[in-house]
This record gives sequence, structure tokens and C-alpha cells, in this order.
Amino acid sequence: MRSEGSLHICVTRRQQEQFLAQELALRLPGLKCNELAPQVIALGDISLEDLVRFPLFFSSQLLPNAVPIEAQSISAWTNAILSHLREQFGEASSPWSLHIFEPLTAETGESYARAELIKQELRLLLKQKRRSLARALHEVCSADCTLVQVLLTSKTTGFISVASPSQRALCRAALSPYEAGVCAIADDKNPPSRAFKKLREAIAVFGLSIRADSRAVDLGASPGGWTHVLVEHGATVTAVDRSPLEGAIARSSRVTFTQGNAFSWTPPQGVDWLVCDVITTPDRTLEILRTWIGEKVCRNFCVTIKFKGDPDFQTLHLIQHFLASHTAWWDGRQLTHNKNEVTVVGRAY
Ligand SMILES: C[S@@+](CC[C@H](N)C(=O)[O-])C[C@H]1O[C@@H](n2cnc3c(N)ncnc32)[C@H](O)[C@@H]1O
Repeated sequence: MRSEGSLHICVTRRQQEQFLAQELALRLPGLKCNELAPQVIALGDISLEDLVRFPLFFSSQLLPNAVPIEAQSISAWTNAILSHLREQFGEASSPWSLHIFEPLTAETGESYARAELIKQELRLLLKQKRRSLARALHEVCSADCTLVQVLLTSKTTGFISVASPSQRALCRAALSPYEAGVCAIADDKNPPSRAFKKLREAIAVFGLSIRADSRAVDLGASPGGWTHVLVEHGATVTAVDRSPLEGAIARSSRVTFTQGNAFSWTPPQGVDWLVCDVITTPDRTLEILRTWIGEKVCRNFCVTIKFKGDPDFQTLHLIQHFLASHTAWWDGRQLTHNKNEVTVVGRAY
């Protein structure tokens, strides 16, 4: 599936265009990057396989094989999208899902009137002209759906990208099933901190499977949001922190709290899961990964890498190389609920 000559587009968070550009320059020196609009970076002359070989931490969403659209009115937009769909799908009616978005409003969770109008009119047009396509349109983008994305860069310009289920699988978390890559986790009053959203999102985005009765260690666990999520999945958790857990999770029979140093504490025997949200520098997080993964202390992991100021790309690069050579699989990105940090997940050899 060589796709040389095609245009791939990455959407970033606002004011993070330069982070993605730096990340790409380190990983793929010489790659042509072009900022087309705020939060929209076009990448030329690279195959999709080469682009997604390593995770793209600072890309919120990928639009592979994107094609430009120019349209002056809502009906011109819908006709252009329909004609592209005709070309792509022919008469087939396999399941598909549709995202139409503008990056800034998608990130802030506001609705964008023009995108909504195009969606509504396209649905009507499909019902009139292509009933089989209308019936195959799914609200939730499950793994068997082809994902059609329409990115609006202005009122009259944008891009359309169609990714088959196999292309989506190739791209892993870089191509999110959530519109614009934004995965909003609902509020919940039960966990003792809002940090629980990061682990719930990681489970959803990377498809992590925490089995009931698995043994987990939560490093930097306090006040206990991540421990709460692990227990929800049926895990037995050793929570390690300098400060105690708070709220109901501190009294759970599935939780043992150990007051200790996250950098030196290791369990007497291997565990199924390491989760780690310790506030520290990337090089110290790399130390933790080296111990737990390199010495086979854990089988699966979900770890945040936090930055002070701009991202530390050099250490991120070292972490990528370490994970690439010590894991059966791994992935990573800046999640919707990550602040100045990224999340890496995977399974050790
Ligand atoms: C962002 S908070 C973790 C929040 C937690 N994941 C939750 O869901 O509630 C970071 C934690 O790392 C802990 N921490 C920082 N350095 C540590 C160390 N050397 N040993 C143990 N805990 C540490 C802090 O005490 C703090 O509770």
C-alpha cells in the first residue's frame, strides 16, 4: 500500500504546530511539512507506512491521503463530499462513519455551525440519492468502519480523507475514531481526583484490556484517581506514593497503600500492570521504564511523560527507542486529558 505522492494531514492542538514540526524533524529528517492553517500541518512525499512507524505524540488527528476541497456554499460542500464518496465507495455499502470538523471548535468542544449544516444537508442528500450509503452510515466509528473525515480550514476550503479499516489499523492511535481526535471523558464524582480521566481515556483510545483479578501497581498514585479506575476493572492494586490516598478508594479491600519512593520501590514478584503518573522529568520516567520493562517487572504499562515548559524531544526520542526494542507493542500520544505531558502504553516482551 505505497501512497507516495499523497498528502497526509495532521491536526494539532492550538499553538502546538511547532511541537509537531520539531517531532517530525527529529524522527523523519528532510520530511516536507507545511502549515496550511492554524493547527493544520500537511506532510508530503511520504508513505503512510513510513509516517506512522512511530507514534506521532503531538498530532491529535491524522487525515491520510487527504484531497483538497473548495466550495462556496453548503450545497457545494455536500455535492463535493458526495461525489468523493461515490468515487471511493462505488456501489458498495460497507459500514462507514463521518466526521466534519474545524480544529479549534473541535478542541474546545463548541459546535461549529457550518460543519453541522453540511452534515445535515449531506444526510438528506444521501437519503435521496444514495440510500445504501445512508443506511451504512454509523454514528460511532467502530473498528470495521471506513472513516470519512472532512476538515474545514475556512468557510470555503478544506480537505476530505477516507481511511479503510485496514488503513485505520495501520495508523493505530494516530488515527482516532473520535472526531478531531478529541475523546471527552464524562465527569464522575466518585474518584478522588480528575486525573482518573487520563487513564479512562488511555483505556478507550489505545484499547487497553485490564482484566479482572489482574495485579497492578500504581506509582505516584495519590490521591487515587488511577487506582480507582484500576479497581473498577477488577484489578488488585498496590498504590505507591509519598502521600496517602484519599476518599473511598483508600478503604477499598482491593487496594494496598505503600508509602515509598516511586523510583526505588519494586514489587516482590512481577505484576500484570504498571501505571505511573509520577510528576518528574522525562529522563527519570525513562529510568522507571528501564527498570519495570527492561527487568520484566511488569507485563503491561501505561505511563505519563511530563514536561516542564516545552517538550523534551531528545529524551522522548530515547524513550521511543527503548520502547521499540523492549516491547511486543507500544503506542503513545498526547491524550485529550493530558496537559503538558504525553502518555505511552504497551506490553513488554
Ligand atoms: C499527578 S499526581 C498523581 C495523580 C494520580 N494519578 C491520581 O489519579 O490521583 C503525582 C503524584 O506523584 C507523587 N510523587 C512524586 N514524586 C514521587 C516519588 N519520588 N515517590 C512517590 N510518589 C511521588 C506525588 O506525591 C503525587 O501524588
